[in-house]
Amino acid sequence: MRSETALIHRFRDSRQQHGAVNPPIVHASTIRFPTLEDLDREHEVRSSYGLHGTATHFGLIDNLSAMEEAFDSHLVPSGLAAITLPLMAFLRTGDHLLVPDNCYGPTRRFADTVLQKLDIATTYYPPAAASETIAELTNPQTAVILLESPGSDTFEMQDVAAIATMAKARGIKTIMDNTWAAGYYFKPLQHGIDVSIQALTKYVAGHSDCLLGLIAAKTEADWKQIDKVHRAFGTGHCSAEIAYLAARGLRSMPARLALHQDNALKMAHWLESQPEVLKVHFPALESHAGHALWKRDYTGTTSLFAFELPNRNRKKLAEFLDNLRFYGMGYSWGGYESLLVPKSPQTTRPYSGWDNDHQLLRIHVGLEHIDDLIEDMDAGIKRYLA
Ligand SMILES: Cc1ncc(COP(=O)(O)O)c(C=O)c1O
Repeated sequence: MRSETALIHRFRDSRQQHGAVNPPIVHASTIRFPTLEDLDREHEVRSSYGLHGTATHFGLIDNLSAMEEAFDSHLVPSGLAAITLPLMAFLRTGDHLLVPDNCYGPTRRFADTVLQKLDIATTYYPPAAASETIAELTNPQTAVILLESPGSDTFEMQDVAAIATMAKARGIKTIMDNTWAAGYYFKPLQHGIDVSIQALTKYVAGHSDCLLGLIAAKTEADWKQIDKVHRAFGTGHCSAEIAYLAARGLRSMPARLALHQDNALKMAHWLESQPEVLKVHFPALESHAGHALWKRDYTGTTSLFAFELPNRNRKKLAEFLDNLRFYGMGYSWGGYESLLVPKSPQTTRPYSGWDNDHQLLRIHVGLEHIDDLIEDMDAGIKRYLA
């Protein structure tokens, strides 16, 4: 069965749902046990309390675990929680953590506040660093290497397999933020990564109306270690309604991604052909420094990337962005509508060497007609340059 078909047909059974196509939304705090013997064996059931999930969560978890080729997974109430929770599971006081300099911003905030308070030291490594460079930054206390490829806002690629092999040889756990690939165009657990996380908020939910995250573990031992922290923190998964919406989104995700991909490639090529556009940061383009890695490892591209215009100019930027017809200005991404936001990596990243005076813009290419998107972008860039 191919992946598109598998995501549609797995983990639902109309016969058990009175013929309905979609599984029901199951709400629960109390889970009842019919006999004392059943109660005595509560640890043998998948959930003995609503906090630990209902059938709605498990249908989504099982479909995602199969997609990620994981032993098992946990849901959490946001993509950010999918990053912080496994870090709490694998780190203890005195440990050292390695994080890419182009990580999702709040990941850095978590490391610099909560982890620092626990005396867990973080070193930020250059975004496209080779595994040998990262190896030089390890020390006997290094317990986790976090990866994010392509990284946030500037989209540098990492050699995931090489970093995972280096980490394994040193007994270091690897956790990868794989949100960009939607867990679909790249499967970190196939490339030696221990834990693959993603913000399901983005392409899986796909409609800009849900927040939730996935933590997918390759081995039972890692899943259990994460499970202990998941239970201890009491965040549970997400609400049953949110799990339902994400499960529904997942079934149509490959079809949406195909159009996102098509539109993104057309937009990126058009931007690249514009003389005023200084650079397009998109691994699916041949001009990108990480294109060979993308081509080697990824089976497709999603639709988030960035480009540079000359001369940062706030007034011109407002004329460009405030008058767009089809692009929303706002955070998050992965929904059906296009988004465009200015970014300033120079303000937060010591390693990335982002010291030019260009204006960086991050684009999420949605599912609108590409000609409308290009026309709107063309008019906007002309306003910026006028
Ligand atoms: C790469 C990446 N990882 C994680 C997250 C966090 O997801 P959430 O907004 O669900 O917390 C985001 C959100 O923008 C992201 O861009």
